[in-house]
Amino acid sequence: MCGIVGILGKQAVAGDIVEALRRLEYRGYDSAGVATVENGLLDRRRAEGKLRNLEARLHNQPLQGRTGIGHTRWATHGKPVERNAHPHMSAKVSVVHNGIIENFRELKAELTADGYKFETETDTETVVHLLTRELGRGVKPVDAVANMLPRLQGAFALGIIFAGNDNLMIGARNGPPLAVGHGDGEMYLGSDAIALAPFTDQVTYLEDGDWAIVTREGVEVRNAGGMRVQRPMIRSPAGTMLVDKGNHRHFMAKEIHEQPEVIGHTLANYIDMAEGRVRFPDLGLDLSAITRVTISACGTAYYAGLVAKYWIEHYARIPVEIDVASEMRYREAPLPKGGLAVFVTQSGETADTLATLRYCKGEGQKIAAVVNVRTSSIARESDAILPTLAGPEIGVASTKAFTCQLSVLACLAIALGKAQGKISDAKEQELVNALTEVPRHITTILRQEAQYEQLAHYLGKAKDVLYLGRGSSFPLALEGALKLKEISYIHAEGYAAGELKHGPIALIDETMPVVVVAPKDELFEKTVSNMQEVAARGGQIIIVTNAESGAAGCPVHAHIQMPDTHPFTSPLLYAIPMQLIAYHTAVFMGTDVDQPRNLAKSVTVE
Ligand code: G6P
Repeated sequence: MCGIVGILGKQAVAGDIVEALRRLEYRGYDSAGVATVENGLLDRRRAEGKLRNLEARLHNQPLQGRTGIGHTRWATHGKPVERNAHPHMSAKVSVVHNGIIENFRELKAELTADGYKFETETDTETVVHLLTRELGRGVKPVDAVANMLPRLQGAFALGIIFAGNDNLMIGARNGPPLAVGHGDGEMYLGSDAIALAPFTDQVTYLEDGDWAIVTREGVEVRNAGGMRVQRPMIRSPAGTMLVDKGNHRHFMAKEIHEQPEVIGHTLANYIDMAEGRVRFPDLGLDLSAITRVTISACGTAYYAGLVAKYWIEHYARIPVEIDVASEMRYREAPLPKGGLAVFVTQSGETADTLATLRYCKGEGQKIAAVVNVRTSSIARESDAILPTLAGPEIGVASTKAFTCQLSVLACLAIALGKAQGKISDAKEQELVNALTEVPRHITTILRQEAQYEQLAHYLGKAKDVLYLGRGSSFPLALEGALKLKEISYIHAEGYAAGELKHGPIALIDETMPVVVVAPKDELFEKTVSNMQEVAARGGQIIIVTNAESGAAGCPVHAHIQMPDTHPFTSPLLYAIPMQLIAYHTAVFMGTDVDQPRNLAKSVTVE
């Protein structure tokens, strides 16, 4: 996850920028850089590797500007070399960026045809050239940014400074967070309040779509439509805490909203976005020789594994065995030697998952862990670690860890399909492109949060809720039901839509809300038939779909419209409504959202 810092200071700011970047090291990075405006001219220093390399460079060739931006880069587009490190710049403008500019290929083609030379493999450089073109036409910096922002597609945050302007810094947020810090005659920009803690605890969080025109005198915030908006200045506790809630009421809400960023970050670890290819780490085994995959996990992580079963069997045509760890550890399932066993876990400490791992190891399986905590027991005992780069997850109900697990497992399915000769180069590119779009689509879904608050008033009165889904949406129905019962304490069950008539249909009457997870895929019509069966018995349907026809004529209580996307990525996107339904219902019920009764974040006992 890249880190952004900007300072409009009273003296040379490069040293303070490096200090602030140090507080963002926890996000992970592979190069860093600083740019300042000095005597009206932009200049920068960048270095591969750790911040001490950048510091050494600054020591030998100091930057004296009082206006500057800095960045820690986690490579997405292009290798982690100095050439690709941020800030990127022309003679007129310098830019730091976190996230993905999805349409950078089209923008690059347009700008190249217009005579702009690209020096890097990054998507960020398109922003520099777009702005330089505007500025070259005599457009003023603020207007240049206003004209440029609508050209960008994706989920991103930007920090921008301009040659010839010692008192201007612009920050823009479209997905990943960005905060403005208020000092005494100084102003700051940061990926989070933690970075700004040494300088100020007075912070304004930009809302999604906002951009901020920052001068030493203050900040003017505009929304995506260019209208001036007021955002509150709040006192941030980040000075004493490593993780804070930002401007969210609960950690769970913050973690739901972090998903565009952490999924982008996780995907960047497994795919080369510029090439549209999977770049999977060496697992120390021949992926083309794998004849069987075993997956085991607990809770939400198990549902991520269940989605992976659908993906791996469909795209790589390898049989997948999956079971919850508490069952698999005692089942003594026979496992053919040389198989791949995949363990999915946020904490890496879940006792049943660890015990199953040890059993599989004893059965001669190669062990891979999809894990969020890299120093955990499960990470240490695995042959290969497939990290999820979700960052610390504090809310007991897993949200961002789940979608990051799905991101890694989606890449694993593509890598296996490629190795087994079941996925062509063109198909790989199609699937990778679909994954690249996920952060943007999640940003869109999160913008429609108000409807879930309304729905919560209805669901909060229900005694039982049923969730239905087919194919890879079935695990999502299970996850939706788990989320709701975990944090709102409303009884909920997830069912395969086709199983409805084998039991749960007996429960349906007009008091029963039924959430139907129904992306428009090859199974959609079948799910609609099951929905008709519910409607015929008075059940109250809440459909979550991207189908234009909505519920295809079936009467529904509520319709959650999803963006139109590739069916491969549906589980990643449909996870978000599952989380938002549960979250807002729990808030409505007044439960302890982050620490629900009886539940633990890390279950280290049987
Ligand atoms: C607990 C948590 C869940 C989590 C499960 C597995 O039940 O409350 O959110 O999914 O453990 O935890 P793990 O750390 O292995 O993913």
